[in-house]
Amino acid sequence: MMKTFDLSKVVRPNIQKLKPYRCARDDFSDGQLMDANENSLGPPMKVDIIDEPERYPCPHQRELKSLYAKWRGVEQKQVFLGVGSDEAIDLLIRMACTPGKDSILTLPPTYGMYGVCAQVNDVNVVKIPLDDGFVMNSKKILTAIENQPKQSPIKIVFVCHPNNPTGIFFFLSFFSLSRSTTHIHTQEMTCRTQRNWKHLQIPSVMPS
Ligand SMILES: Cc1ncc(COP(=O)(O)O)c(C=O)c1O
Repeated sequence: MMKTFDLSKVVRPNIQKLKPYRCARDDFSDGQLMDANENSLGPPMKVDIIDEPERYPCPHQRELKSLYAKWRGVEQKQVFLGVGSDEAIDLLIRMACTPGKDSILTLPPTYGMYGVCAQVNDVNVVKIPLDDGFVMNSKKILTAIENQPKQSPIKIVFVCHPNNPTGIFFFLSFFSLSRSTTHIHTQEMTCRTQRNWKHLQIPSVMPS
C-alpha cells in the first residue's frame, strides 16, 4: 500500500515529545498499589460479581482492546477506547491542533461537537456548508484547504458519516454500511479524506 500518512506532520511537536504517564499498574499487577489508593482492607461489603473490587481497573484496558481488535481485524495498538466519541473528538483536536494557530474544517449542518471542541481548544473552524440536497462539495473543500493561510493550516477535516443531522452517507462506496455512526465518525473520517484527496497531502489521523 502506498504510504500517504505521515503522523509526524499531523501531531503537534510537543505531543510527539511527550513521555507517556506511568503508574504502578505498568509494572505490577498484584500486591497493594498505594498510588492507586487501593483499599488495603479489601471491599467494605461482599460483592460476588467482580473480582477484586478493591482494585482500580487496569488503565490500559488490554483485555477489552484485544477482543475489539480481533473483532475489527486490527492490531491492539490501533484501538483507542474513550468515554464516548466526544472524548475522541476532543483528543484528536488537542493532539493535532496548536491552540490559537491551527484550524479544523467542518461541513455544516453537521455534528455540533466538532465546533464546540475546537472552540474549547482555541482552534479555528473553517466551515464549508453542504450543497443543496446536503451533498458535499469537494471542490469547495479543496479550495478552502488550498487557500487557507499558511500560519493557520487545516489539520483535520471532519466528515461525519452518515452525517448528523442529515443522515446522508458520504463516499458511500468506501464505507461499510453496517457500522454505527459513532464508530465511523471517529475512526474513518480522515481515512476517507485521505483516499479522495491524497494529492493534497492532507494526512489522515488514523493510519489506514
Ligand atoms: C456523529 C456523532 N458523533 C459523536 C456523538 C457523540 O457520541 P458519544 O455519546 O459516544 O460521545 C454523536 C452523538 O449524537 C454523534 O451524532
